[in-house]
Amino acid sequence: MAYRIAVVGGDGIGPEVTAEALKVVRASGVAIETEDFDLGGARYLNDGEILSDETLNELRKFDAILLGAVGDPRVPPGVIERGLLLKMRFELDLYVNQRPFAGTAPGHTRPHDFVVIRENTEGPYVGEGGVLRKGTPNEVATQGSVNSRMGVERCVRYAFELAMQRERKHVTLVHKTNVLTFSGDLWERTFNQVAAEYPQIETAYNHVDAACIYFVQDPHRYDVVVTDNLFGDILTDLGGAVSGGIGLASSANLNPSRSGPSMFEPVHGSAPDIAGTGVANPTAAVLSAALMLDFLGEADAARRIEAACAEVPTEGTVAIGDMIASRVSG
Ligand code: IPM
Ligand code: MN
Repeated sequence: MAYRIAVVGGDGIGPEVTAEALKVVRASGVAIETEDFDLGGARYLNDGEILSDETLNELRKFDAILLGAVGDPRVPPGVIERGLLLKMRFELDLYVNQRPFAGTAPGHTRPHDFVVIRENTEGPYVGEGGVLRKGTPNEVATQGSVNSRMGVERCVRYAFELAMQRERKHVTLVHKTNVLTFSGDLWERTFNQVAAEYPQIETAYNHVDAACIYFVQDPHRYDVVVTDNLFGDILTDLGGAVSGGIGLASSANLNPSRSGPSMFEPVHGSAPDIAGTGVANPTAAVLSAALMLDFLGEADAARRIEAACAEVPTEGTVAIGDMIASRVSG
C-alpha cells in the first residue's frame, strides 16, 4: 500500500525544494501517492484562502504532510505563518517539533550529534494578548506565554523516551528559570518529575543564553535538548548554523499519538529572493522527507537517504536533488 502524502509546497523556494524531496523519496523505492495543496501567500492573495477548516479536514485523511516553506513578503507578517503553519501545528496537535543536528561546528574537529525537542503548541505562539490604544503615544501591547502542565509534560516525556533510544541517554532542559519564574518553575518541576521515572538517563539544565554559547563552543555536551516553543525556534536556527548551515536543517512536527498526520518541513524559510533561480539547496527538504519516512516506519529508506545526503556537496543548487536521488536508487 502506498503512503498518502499531502504536499504543501507553500511560498518562495518551498515548491522547488519539496519537488526535489519527493523525487528522492520515489527513488528510495517507498511507494507514495501525493496530492498537492495550493496554499500559501499566492493562494491567499488570489482568493483569500489561507487554510480553511474544510481543507484542514482534507489534510487529516493523509498519512503525512510534506511542507516546503511559509512566508511571502507581499502579505503582512503573521497572516500566513499563523493561519497556515501554526494552524496546522495547533489543530493537528503536532506537539513535538523534532530537529536533529549533526555536523562539525566551525572551529571544531570533532563532530556533534544532538536533537532539539521543541514544544510546538504552546508558549508565546498561542497568540494570547492584544493591543490597547493602537497607534497612540499610550499604546500598550501584551503577548502572553501559555504553559500547561499537560503540554509541558507530554513534550518532556517524549524527550526522555527519545533519549532512551539513543546511545548517550542524556537530556538537557533549556529555559530561563532565573527570569521567567512562573513558566520556568513549571518546566523545571515537570522535567524533574519525569526524570525521576528514567533513572538510566542523565540530566542537565542550561539557561537559554548560556545554551547559545554552548551550541557554538561546546555542542558535544548535548544529546537531547528539550525546550519551549520560542526558545526552541531561536535555538534551532543556531543549531543549523553550527551544523553545516540552515540549508541542511530538517524538522518533524509530530503528533506522537498518531491520531492524525504529522508534518515534515525544512527549518529554513521561503527565501523569496532566490525563489525560482535554481540555487536553493533542497537538502533540508530531502532530510525532512527522510524524517517522514522514518516516522512512517520506513527506517531503512530513511537511513539510505541520509547517507546519500552526506555524500553530496552541502552547497549548490536544486540539482543536488538529482545527485541524492541517483545515490538512493543505487
Ligand atoms: C520555524 C519558523 C516558524 C516558527 C515561522 C515561519 C512561524 O521560523 O518553523 O522555525 O517560528 O515556528
Ligand atoms: Mn524558526
